[in-house]
Amino acid sequence: MVRNSRPYSGPADGNPSGYPSGRFVAETRVDDLDKDEQSAEDLAPKKIYPAIARAMMGELHANLLEVVSYHLRGGSGQNLLVLGPGSEVLPFSEHLDDVGDMINGGDLILQDYNETICRKMKEYLEGKKSDRLTFGDAGPGQARVIIRHQDVRAGLAAQPDSLDAIDMTVSVHHATQYENDLIRILADARRVLKKNGLLHIGEGNVDMKYSERKLERLVKDVSEITGTNIELFDRRNGIENRRQLLLGYLDLGERTTILVNEQGMVELLGVGLSCSSDRSKPNEYEVAEALAQRGYKQMIESDHSIFLPLIDHAIEDDFQGLIVPVRKYYAEVSAACLKNLAPEDHEAFRKAISKEQSDAERGLVEYYSPPSMVEKNLQLAGFRLLDVRYTEQGPFVNYVAVKTDW
Ligand SMILES: C[S@@+](CC[C@H](N)C(=O)[O-])C[C@H]1O[C@@H](n2cnc3c(N)ncnc32)[C@H](O)[C@@H]1O
Repeated sequence: MVRNSRPYSGPADGNPSGYPSGRFVAETRVDDLDKDEQSAEDLAPKKIYPAIARAMMGELHANLLEVVSYHLRGGSGQNLLVLGPGSEVLPFSEHLDDVGDMINGGDLILQDYNETICRKMKEYLEGKKSDRLTFGDAGPGQARVIIRHQDVRAGLAAQPDSLDAIDMTVSVHHATQYENDLIRILADARRVLKKNGLLHIGEGNVDMKYSERKLERLVKDVSEITGTNIELFDRRNGIENRRQLLLGYLDLGERTTILVNEQGMVELLGVGLSCSSDRSKPNEYEVAEALAQRGYKQMIESDHSIFLPLIDHAIEDDFQGLIVPVRKYYAEVSAACLKNLAPEDHEAFRKAISKEQSDAERGLVEYYSPPSMVEKNLQLAGFRLLDVRYTEQGPFVNYVAVKTDW
């Protein structure tokens, strides 16, 4: 494993990955934020994100460009897939000459699950009026842009062995609530990459996988207390993430349903109900009492059901396991951003970031994997890790890996 805590800011000396540094400068400019276009009310969701992206991810983006352009240097007809490019396709849209040179007659595939973003990225790129991009056939020095509206959980939008490089910068954490989700996406990346193809992942340097561990514990506790199988439906991400967890009670065939809703509330359903009359199950009050003895706090019982928050701030393990790292991460993100944002944008930024932080504290939307988990699974998925590089500004990390032969 190669680990480097510095950004790509100096010469390649001592950098075992061989990737040179310093060609792309971290971008912190936020001047194309059109302040007059909208009221302060809708500035936050519509306009502040591109500004934040520039303010906080300049270094992450500079590292990404170094790595991808080095890997693709000198080739022709190369195909790059960007997963979750966002409506402004940062940082590529700000370096279109380099993009044209590196792709050089090949495809730039932009995959995003958000339809509006897909539409906007086309408008945004067309607005750049660059002869380096085309939506038709690409000639030398050009990239053919292909926009794919597709959720990565349904696969990467490319043929097997067709890509020279894939970039996933601050996108994959939205789609990886569980470590298994990460494993599936990495396996898919391997499927669509050519031999020696490059995978760049840029992510937050933080562990936000606590909700998976909490759910595993809850499933085990409820199963032990009720003596039933557990069927888990996780609806936090809008789509049904169904897992049937059978914990040694196969013979009974009885089940309790655990449903996690979009607000991060857990519902235990069918508590105390039994298919067979000769078996008596603990009712919802008895189950809640037993859960309380195991440390669960805020619970409401009603009609064979128990409701509780997935992440309970009053539970020390939840607090230490999720709230503390989330707060530390957003404090670092805020410090990096506020330094680079104009004072008049600070309020909109705080509004946007506090919504994101509040989602993350409830185990919603943000599921950053800790570096140890990403590194381990990259290797297990058949990648050779070339570089793991932490940013100096803000809590981010660039992972650089290539597809191996096995
Ligand atoms: C924070 S933006 C990252 C933008 C850009 N990569 C950058 O570095 O600035 C995350 C992007 O990932 C997309 N995204 C999130 N979940 C996704 C999924 N399951 N499948 C495809 N795209 C997804 C979002 O729509 C959004 O465009």
